[in-house]
Amino acid sequence: MKVLNFGSLNLDYVYQMQHILIPGETQASKGRDIFCGGKGLNQSIALARAGISLYHAGMIGAEGDILLKTCRENGISTEFIRKIPDPCGHTVIQVDEDGQNCILLFGGANRSITREFADEVLDSFEKGDILLLQNEINELDYIIDKGYEKGMRIILNPSPYDDALDACDLTKVSLFLMNEIEGYQITGEKEPEAILKKMKERYPQAGAVLTLGADGALYQDETGIYQQGIFKVKAVDTTAAGDTFTGYFISSLIEGMPVQKGLEMAAKASAIAVSRPGAAASIPRREEVL
Ligand code: RIB
Repeated sequence: MKVLNFGSLNLDYVYQMQHILIPGETQASKGRDIFCGGKGLNQSIALARAGISLYHAGMIGAEGDILLKTCRENGISTEFIRKIPDPCGHTVIQVDEDGQNCILLFGGANRSITREFADEVLDSFEKGDILLLQNEINELDYIIDKGYEKGMRIILNPSPYDDALDACDLTKVSLFLMNEIEGYQITGEKEPEAILKKMKERYPQAGAVLTLGADGALYQDETGIYQQGIFKVKAVDTTAAGDTFTGYFISSLIEGMPVQKGLEMAAKASAIAVSRPGAAASIPRREEVL
């Protein structure tokens, strides 16, 4: 069984702020770092650092060599990453003194996926392989349809939620990983239990992970609902905490680990990520998590 993550690769411009800007305000930042990120890349790195071999597919722009290098250094297969003359996907991230963030996203090369490229990538995969997706690339609906036609197991992190997801046939998804806001955007429900109930009614074929910030996470599948608390740390930067949870939890499913153990490992990994600056750079290796 092969694992393919078809997703974004971003350069994150991270500014340390006293507080996150309010409309009309000007504030000098305390510093700036440039990190590798993107929900796609972060989740690939989390999977790789958890010990899973995988392929990443996506597009980088002219200034994106560092993203390719980072994938390679983490043992991720890069044969399906294309470099194009467009600007790279990038973000402007403000991080406040409590480690909270806000993210301005520019899609760049991530939005240049063509159907031909998607077909070419998916040609190398088959029934039973895993296809992991987020919502930072274009042609998401097409990729879901084609992956499903091939019999791939589709795992979706519907983040960031926007209209593109309304065009997707989510009944083809086997597992959703989302936070409360995305859960609300998909189901119209606010309470965690109500979100999971609605997910089960609408997508009975799919498991669902719902991350709840300081309240931990819930996971629902055909065997029931599992709960996981957080491991408290001093938050330095919450960027990529969800991506770390996603990669680690998926790795536990691939390995056939008991669900509760997998949730615990994912919660530990994301706590470590929160205690460090940056996105991809903050994701721990498995030895450290264990
Ligand atoms: O989930 C965190 C990621 O979201 C950041 O690395 C940023 O690139 C945005 O895509």
